[in-house]
Formats: sequence, structure tokens, C-alpha cells
Amino acid sequence: MIDNNLSPASITTNLDTHFVGQRVIYYPTLTSTMEVAKREAQQGAVEGTIVIAEEQTAGRGRKKRPWLSPRGSLALSIILYPSLTYLPYLIMLASLAVVHTIEAVTGLRPQIKWPNDVLVGGKKVCGILIESSLRGNIVNYAIIGIGINVNLRLSNFPEILSTATSLSDELGRDVSPLDIIQRLLVEVEKLYLALPAAESIYQEWRDSLETLGKQVRVQSGKTIYEGIAESVAGDGSLLLRRLDGTLTKIVAGDVTLRHQA
Ligand code: BTN
Repeated sequence: MIDNNLSPASITTNLDTHFVGQRVIYYPTLTSTMEVAKREAQQGAVEGTIVIAEEQTAGRGRKKRPWLSPRGSLALSIILYPSLTYLPYLIMLASLAVVHTIEAVTGLRPQIKWPNDVLVGGKKVCGILIESSLRGNIVNYAIIGIGINVNLRLSNFPEILSTATSLSDELGRDVSPLDIIQRLLVEVEKLYLALPAAESIYQEWRDSLETLGKQVRVQSGKTIYEGIAESVAGDGSLLLRRLDGTLTKIVAGDVTLRHQA
């Protein structure tokens, strides 16, 4: 088993970024990195500050679901101050940064399940949670929370075994968490600085979505939609061709393939 050996210094040493990850708030154990990142952002933390924990005791997933975050997984939140125009692109940016990172460090070929789950071999290896605070048209802050199953033996977690995987389970060997973290910070910064060319980020994200073209069932709030996931709009919404031929735009939801539902 690779020793994690994580510390703020190990992360920032030779880190090839200008600001993302240059300030690290590190905890061996924490309730949720989102909580600390929110507090830091409210106090005006420098942009790119990251909060990282080797283990979360109350990890948060989308839709207020719990997120399993034991040692061996990576839990990280990044504080950013984007303009309102770029806010919808953070989902795309974050999932693409994870895809690039996993490809570069492991050689695996991940795909994105709309809107922002990263899958390897059809199973979830990473979840992303974006939280933001607005005052009118002003973004007070945005926090990208990223949880990656790096060195987890999924056989120890039967409750998620059928839907989740880890990098180590896919590769049959452990992966350096530090390599993943440093590459991820580089990729996030690269894509964040490229936001003025957001169209290309949107196109790459759309092309990485495994969901498109498939017959799906989407739960959005209390409503369930069925149809073919035809495309995604520039704001990240899913465009679903319903069975009656109409096109429905879905802003947020959970997708399952229809034959699995
Ligand atoms: C999901 O797929 O439901 C999103 C999971 C997001 C998990 C990450 S781990 C780091 C950050 N801290 C949290 O409590 N949640 C996010």
C-alpha cells in the first residue's frame, strides 16, 4: 500500500500552478471539506485555496446524500471566485479535470455520466459537488468538491460495490495520491484559466458524456422523465427526447439507463 504522506508541503512542493493549490488546508480527519471551505471562502480566502482531508466523517454528496470518504479515497474542495457567466461551466471544468488527471496518471479511460459523475468501466470512481453563494449577479464564492476513490478496496464496501469502483481496483495496484492531487490541481487551473474559451470546454465535456444517445430515465426532483438523452445545452442542461417526440430540458437530475431502472 502506498503511504499517503500527505501534507501541505508535499502538495505544494513542485506544484506547477500559479494559484490553485498554492494554499493548502489539510486535515487527517474532518467532517466535510465543504464545510471548512465554505467558512474559509466567507472569510475571503485567497482564490485557489484547497481544503483536503484524508478521511471525512460526514462527507456530503449531491442532493444531500452522504458521501463515503474513508482513508484511501481523496476528498478535496477548491475555493474559486468566478464571474456569474462562468458558473455553469464549473461542472464541466471539474469533471474534465478529473478525466484528464485519471488518464494522465493511470492510463485508464474514464467517461462522464451527466452531469458530473466520472466513471471507469461503467462504475463511479469520482463524485463532484459544486456549491456557490450569490448576491444578485455577484458570485461571492464557488466551491468545487471532488471525491475520488483512489486506493479503496470496494469489496470492503458492499453497499456501493455494484455501482462504484476505485482506481486501485481497476488497475490491480495502488496509485500515488500525491500524483493525483498535483495533476488535478494543474488541470483545474488550466481549465479555469481557459474559461474565456468556454465553448471548447463545453464541447469536450459534451463529447466525453457516456450518457448521450442512450435511452435513460432521469429523476429530477420528484419528477421522472424517460427518453433518449439527445444532447446537452451550453448551460449544461440535459436535452431529453421524450417518448412523445418532445424535447425536455433538464437542469439537474440523476440518470439511470432505462434497462437498469
Ligand atoms: C456526488 O456524487 O454525490 C458528489 C460527491 C462529492 C464528494 C466530495 S468529497 C470532497 C467534498 N467534501 C464533501 O463533503 N463532498 C465533496
